[in-house]
Amino acid sequence: MNVLGVWDGHDSGAALVVDGRVVAAINEERLSRRKLEVRFPTAAIAACLDLGQLAPADVDVVAACTTDVAKALARLLPSTREAYYRVRRRQAAPGPLAALRKRAKYWLTEWGPNPVSRAVSRACLGRTLRGIGLGGARLRLYDHHGCHAMGAACASGFERALVVTLDGVGDGLSATVSLLDEHGLRRLAATPAADSPGIFFEHVTNLLNMRELEDEGKVMALAGYAAAPERNPLLPLVQARGLRFATAAPGHALHARLRRIQWAFPNEQFARMAQEALEQAAVAVVARAVHETGVGRVALAGGVASNIRINRLIRLLPEVEDVFVFPHMGDGGLALGAALAAAAEGNGRLRVDLGDLGLGPGWSDPALESRLRAAGRAFCRPPQMVAEVAERLVRGQVVLWFEGRMEYGPRALGHRSILARPDRPELRDRLNLVLKRRVWYQPFCPSLLESEAQRLFADWKGRPDRFMTMAYEVRPEARAALSGVINVDGTCRPQIVADDAAGPWAALLHEMKRLTGTGAVLNTSFNIHGEPLVCAPEEALDVFARSGADALALGPFLVERGGGG
Ligand SMILES: [Fe+2]
Repeated sequence: MNVLGVWDGHDSGAALVVDGRVVAAINEERLSRRKLEVRFPTAAIAACLDLGQLAPADVDVVAACTTDVAKALARLLPSTREAYYRVRRRQAAPGPLAALRKRAKYWLTEWGPNPVSRAVSRACLGRTLRGIGLGGARLRLYDHHGCHAMGAACASGFERALVVTLDGVGDGLSATVSLLDEHGLRRLAATPAADSPGIFFEHVTNLLNMRELEDEGKVMALAGYAAAPERNPLLPLVQARGLRFATAAPGHALHARLRRIQWAFPNEQFARMAQEALEQAAVAVVARAVHETGVGRVALAGGVASNIRINRLIRLLPEVEDVFVFPHMGDGGLALGAALAAAAEGNGRLRVDLGDLGLGPGWSDPALESRLRAAGRAFCRPPQMVAEVAERLVRGQVVLWFEGRMEYGPRALGHRSILARPDRPELRDRLNLVLKRRVWYQPFCPSLLESEAQRLFADWKGRPDRFMTMAYEVRPEARAALSGVINVDGTCRPQIVADDAAGPWAALLHEMKRLTGTGAVLNTSFNIHGEPLVCAPEEALDVFARSGADALALGPFLVERGGGG
């Protein structure tokens, strides 16, 4: 059965599951080149079908999700979505009615689905799908949190686990706790949208004049630069109540409550208090669920599950045996979640292997070579590319690394990465200010061999995190070796690569181990900040030209700075 998953909201995208196997998954932003694209994912759908070598007529089922009132209206009036996108991304000024519109928007998202909103969604989606030749496929609509949960459940590998969604809003809910067993997923508790932990943090992000739905990670990073508060007035604003969250006011009114507190605090202190409040509530909900069910394996998804400090605290709960975080935890991962929900139907449950997440487009060596020639760049084909790159990194160079199929999800995992030595804080600063143009307090992350992670991390527990989804504490004696990729609190967010993994990525880490004694690199996403991850070789060459990096490894070809073109 060929199932095409489609997500047509924030960070829209598509995913293709063929006979229970994930064949392709890609977000529209990588093709439209608009970060966190909100338009219908027409190009992502075409790319998925292309990767699966399918025609639109071969698709049996199109799986989509979220039919609440706000989503139905956005489908009916796409221009409203575009207007919000432009304000949110600071491409348009908010206008005189901004505060009112914001309140109305959040109020609307608190409404769950009803028969009319479902019918509108089905009609709008059906019409769009017919327009791109997918009218022959059956359209299945799923619940927002069910899709978040299904992605985490199917990819976790757990037989029996708690599946927890921690989110903003979708289909009238903001968080759920479900039990996964041999029969599938069974929901135990759900938090209404009005009591959303994600909206709480979204408002904090917005009040710090950062972009909500995008810069929450910056708020978390900034929080590291403030001391723990003696008294935290944000704690009562978001709390755990059993298996649910409770906020002091509905999401649409919480912004004003937060603003009344914010004025008295410096930004980093406010960020710290918000992070602490969110941490305490989220960890308490999960701890309670583990306690009540006696199930110590936890799979997480939803936008709040991108908070690596919360994920670490959950991992370290004594009653938790193991944690898996769905690597594309935010709404951008819903296309795959929906596809898996449809593929699992009738089977009870489904297990999938996401591999190294290289689920996007890739280019053959001849195709890369012709792109290089078309761009007029001088290049060479080193006999040992891995050794060549490692040797350059050791010399302090910054190397752009383009290898195989593009990653699915928010992290660069060795297909579209910017690389440097992990033990040079001055390289980190050069990357932040010159290459990536990021804020100074946003840390970089390492990719390292599993054997190294066991040696370097003090709080090793559970399965190794392959997808950069949670923080680990670096042992004091290892901090010098990872000084360029360490947070101010002594933790880092690693990609832990199996020592015996095939391919050039693990080989590069082994070569770094041989040359420097530490099998690790600084690995940051191959883009300029604010732009989507590069997908095609042309974009890689463009970023190389604009970034000031020393070299570009494009498949088997090496391009050096100053090398023509
Ligand atoms: Fe969501």
